[in-house]
Amino acid sequence: MAAATTTVYPEAASTDGGRLSVGGCDAVELAREFGTPAYVYAEDDLRARARQLRGAMERHHGPRSTVAFASKAFPCTAALRLFREEGLAVDVASAGELHLARRAGYEASEIVVHGNAKSVGELEAALGTTIVVDNAAELERLSGLAGREQRVLLRITPGVSTDTHAAVATGQADSKFGFSMQDAPAAIERAAAALDLRGLHVHVGSQIFDEQPHRESIAALATLGAFPEYDLGGGFGVAYTDDQRSVDLDARLAAMVAAAHALLDAEGRHLTIEPGRALVAAAGVTLYTVESVKRNVSTWVAVDGGMSDNLRPLLYGSPYRADVADRLGGDTVCHLAGKHCESGDVIARDVALDDPRPGDVVATPVTGAYGHAMANNYNGVPRPPVIFCSGGRARVVVRRETVEDLHARDL
Ligand code: LLP
Repeated sequence: MAAATTTVYPEAASTDGGRLSVGGCDAVELAREFGTPAYVYAEDDLRARARQLRGAMERHHGPRSTVAFASKAFPCTAALRLFREEGLAVDVASAGELHLARRAGYEASEIVVHGNAKSVGELEAALGTTIVVDNAAELERLSGLAGREQRVLLRITPGVSTDTHAAVATGQADSKFGFSMQDAPAAIERAAAALDLRGLHVHVGSQIFDEQPHRESIAALATLGAFPEYDLGGGFGVAYTDDQRSVDLDARLAAMVAAAHALLDAEGRHLTIEPGRALVAAAGVTLYTVESVKRNVSTWVAVDGGMSDNLRPLLYGSPYRADVADRLGGDTVCHLAGKHCESGDVIARDVALDDPRPGDVVATPVTGAYGHAMANNYNGVPRPPVIFCSGGRARVVVRRETVEDLHARDL
């Protein structure tokens, strides 16, 4: 068996002897017990990452800091409960995510509400939280619904370019999000007159590896005056394959906080960050079963999931590692294909597996962010369960969808 570099599996995983276990649970046994496809999480990794980020913010900035989990990355009640236990706040982007956060026990004071097209209903549901106002129409609507006690931040679009996929870049001047630098002063004046304007928010995009865009966005905020609070967003880049390197979170936060102290005089002010992916991506592994292996020009290994449980390859061309769960590594170069009725449904191209055969369990690591979140029922495929593993024990925290669920809304 070829030696496998396995840096992208969860910290609480083992690949000893070429056999994957997550949180002390053998991957093949998990597949047997719970079926496939399945999202399997190392619960200890979720906790460790939450502690790491909170610890880093407290060390670099002190107690006036908040780490708000961007729940869009993994909108799962059990994860939200876990992060609340670990002292994280939460960022939601719709009334639905707000509902989940409330159900998980979050108080209004621990919730940050986003959205570039919030409805009146969403604003009403969000009253009492910290609302990040995106645009002038929303500012007027909210001023009509709420009074001076309503805490708000204004989302500023700093006009910063980022080296990430265009679909997840948000800091550029021509963005659908936030107030432009030109419109910001008038919005600040209006918000300060009508609401409890706490400060400014900026989020330059997702899967950001460079420090520069964060620094530039902080510099842009500095031109807009001084505020008690700044929310600097999320977007910290994560490695999906062994040739990539995740952002060093401690170093990145140290640099961001230093920039905020220098440029925003932020030492005595409140600083928030909103990581999603960095908290959850590497904690999750998806397990599939191989249904067929076909050789034509390439070798096609088809599994029982695909674009219904992981849209990221199709949406962003995102690469993934894959392994046969009890024979990691290998040298059969193949495409890991999904089961859906389109040729684009390929989970990972040119991956090296160990002589894959029907019945094998295949694992794709780093599927903990935006997998469950963006899952869908294309081709009538029920969505997978979410299984948390720790200390050799596995618990289902979201059950597998059934075919009955597929017509549960029919009238
Ligand atoms: N804060 C705001 C205002 C955001 O819009 C986002 C992500 C985050 C924080 C968290 O970003 P993160 O730390 O997770 O990168 N579906 C895409 C990602 C979309 C991100 C949208 N906003 C993907 O699968 O890559």
